[in-house]
Amino acid sequence: MAKKERANFGTKLGVILATAGSAVGLGNIWRFPYQAGEHGGAAFILIYLGCVLLLGISIMVAEFLIGRHSRANTARAYQVLAPGTPWKWVGRLGVLTGFLILSYYSVVAGWTLEFVGEAATGNLTGKTASAFKTAFEAFTANPWRPALWTLLFLLITHLIVVRGVEKGIERASKIMMPVLLLLLMVLAVCAMTLPNAMRGVEFLLKPDFSKVNSDVFLGALGQAFFSLSLGMGCLCTYASYFKKETNLTKTAFNVSIIDTVVAILAGLIIFPAAFSVNITPNAGAELVFITLPNVFQQAFGGVPVLSYIFSLLFYLLLALAALTSTISMHEVVTAFLHEELKLTRKRAAALVTLGCAVLGILCSLSLGIGRDYTLFGMTLFDLFDKGTAKIMLPVGGLFISIFTGWFLDKKIVRAEITNDGSLKVPLYRLIIVLLKYVAPISIALVFINELGIL
Ligand code: PFF
Repeated sequence: MAKKERANFGTKLGVILATAGSAVGLGNIWRFPYQAGEHGGAAFILIYLGCVLLLGISIMVAEFLIGRHSRANTARAYQVLAPGTPWKWVGRLGVLTGFLILSYYSVVAGWTLEFVGEAATGNLTGKTASAFKTAFEAFTANPWRPALWTLLFLLITHLIVVRGVEKGIERASKIMMPVLLLLLMVLAVCAMTLPNAMRGVEFLLKPDFSKVNSDVFLGALGQAFFSLSLGMGCLCTYASYFKKETNLTKTAFNVSIIDTVVAILAGLIIFPAAFSVNITPNAGAELVFITLPNVFQQAFGGVPVLSYIFSLLFYLLLALAALTSTISMHEVVTAFLHEELKLTRKRAAALVTLGCAVLGILCSLSLGIGRDYTLFGMTLFDLFDKGTAKIMLPVGGLFISIFTGWFLDKKIVRAEITNDGSLKVPLYRLIIVLLKYVAPISIALVFINELGIL
């Protein structure tokens, strides 16, 4: 491989925030609430938390150590650690998954830009609940507007990836993440004071296990992988930029906690808000774009300036949170093409952006004029969403855990987790057990069950 200057994240906080920046995104604020809504609420959330604790953190550690030890893109990483074996296909599968997720994710990220514009021009004020619904449906069905926003979002991502992200992203994340957390907390308090809000809180906290089936498990598993950016080598690629001193286990814990707190806060906003305007929380992917603007109108004692400021800030931060995630996905594919096909970084990034633009526009159109063209009964958008989160990411996670738990030399695993013996990691054995047995067996069981074999 051509010797390439590998950048490092500057500070400890930078590592956590850049990685958390990848993890925290539309997956927490847009996808988590509607997945929880679709899968019955509190029971789904409990299973989700179980997945994060038992599988997410250990697989994140595995991705980190694969990336940092090999200091290469995700496909090359397996070639470095297991030369001449088919393991490189796990990395390649990850690159493909990243490419597909980025394509449809950019569509939703594009919607956030539309809403930033709407909020900024005051167009979100004074509308009724049903007007929000009609407006959003008209917007997504329009062939041009969402497609143009998708392109713009991809272009912004492209420009940042080409320029190198360390300083910009690290610095922006340090300001953005705390503001996002604070804003979510304020909104959660506001949402909970709306009429009927407690029914939403109940939906979030009172589990009904009678609704749990294998699809709920698969949904929670997929959401955990999606939200933590796991299973496609994204964190493996980021870890190749980590320093030798970075504590992998601690970083994995911190990132998982931040990611989970943001998801739960988003739930505490969306569900009370949805119940207060009689929208069923399984309304689907549009909760954040229909229910929330309505909340901004009703909350804050109906003071228009406050509604204006909060909605503008919210969609701006949502767009930025999406941006730190799209950058991380783009980086996976760009690093792969750059290092494997020996393209310049600029060319590699341009190829990724172009490819995603084509697929992204098709996904966007599949929600409007193309909605009658379905595959396996799903629009292209849904197919990408479900196919990647429910199949490709868990399959990636399955192989990553088997690779680290069974195949990789334990000396390497131990050296990476303990930073060559300089760190005490009391959970070391537990992490190995989780990677060796718990993760592969539970992911396999969920699949087998879903396929109806069990
Ligand atoms: N974790 C991101 C989110 O929750 O929005 C999405 C994501 C980013 C998924 C990076 C996968 C990935 F590799």
